[in-house]
Amino acid sequence: MAQIIDGKQISAQVKAQVAEEAAKLKERGISICLAVVIVGDDPASRVYVNNKKKACELVGFRSREYALPASTTQQELVDLVQQLNADPEVNGILVQLPLPKQIDEHAIIRTIDPKKDVDAFHAENVGKIMIGDYHFLPCTPAGCMDLIHSTGVEIAGKNAVVVGRSNIVGKPMAMLLLHESATVTICHSKTKDLAQECRRADILVAAVGKANLITGDMVKPGAVVIDVGMNRLENGKLCGDVDFASVEPVAGYITPVPGGVGPMTIATLMRNTLTAAKVQNGLL
Ligand code: GUN
Repeated sequence: MAQIIDGKQISAQVKAQVAEEAAKLKERGISICLAVVIVGDDPASRVYVNNKKKACELVGFRSREYALPASTTQQELVDLVQQLNADPEVNGILVQLPLPKQIDEHAIIRTIDPKKDVDAFHAENVGKIMIGDYHFLPCTPAGCMDLIHSTGVEIAGKNAVVVGRSNIVGKPMAMLLLHESATVTICHSKTKDLAQECRRADILVAAVGKANLITGDMVKPGAVVIDVGMNRLENGKLCGDVDFASVEPVAGYITPVPGGVGPMTIATLMRNTLTAAKVQNGLL
């Protein structure tokens, strides 16, 4: 039986720490503000954005929401991002993804001032992460690392398998595990034998967006299993990429969905926004 990794509890600790530091900055006259941009009416994005705004309130940041219609043009969004770049009151800018088809995601990310890029999506920040010289860590992978650290399991020398190669999770996740000296494999849709690769994993991170892809027979006994998936089933239930019922008896540690990685993503976003404010005020 696996130990459940409680993302809610660990994220609450991170947010409490951020709140404490934010209060200290406030005493010095520095108030922190995150601008959140949402384009269109994707219901999942709406939930994420609401949760991010709530977290801002909890830690003592101001948040500003910019909700644009699905018909927004690329130029209109570029103009808004440039306006937020120039706004001295705004410390962090988050453009919720995915964006409507007529907007080139790369062009928008390229427009965000790297110093305000609290998602760490800009090529400058991605490059800094690659060489290990960074201020911001990408929110979901950093949250996953916190969860792995919470188990006390040593990462150095372990086999880590990341399933999924997205820019948001898979690729940076692999890099963070590599920085901590894991032997890292990245699996994807063309991987020949996914089950066999997964069975070698002491640390398994699933981030593909396919409900219940990882089953108990694919998991090494005692492994740390981190489930990044957030899949909505037809019956409305939320489930991860990991089939919890069959994996939980095999794994050593496992994250639940919901209540695992999701809250950590938001906690890291708060930490990054605090870091952005410190950098912009010459405190880092
Ligand atoms: N869409 C899914 N995950 C994320 C995230 O971490 N940041 C942003 N901006 N959009 C997302």
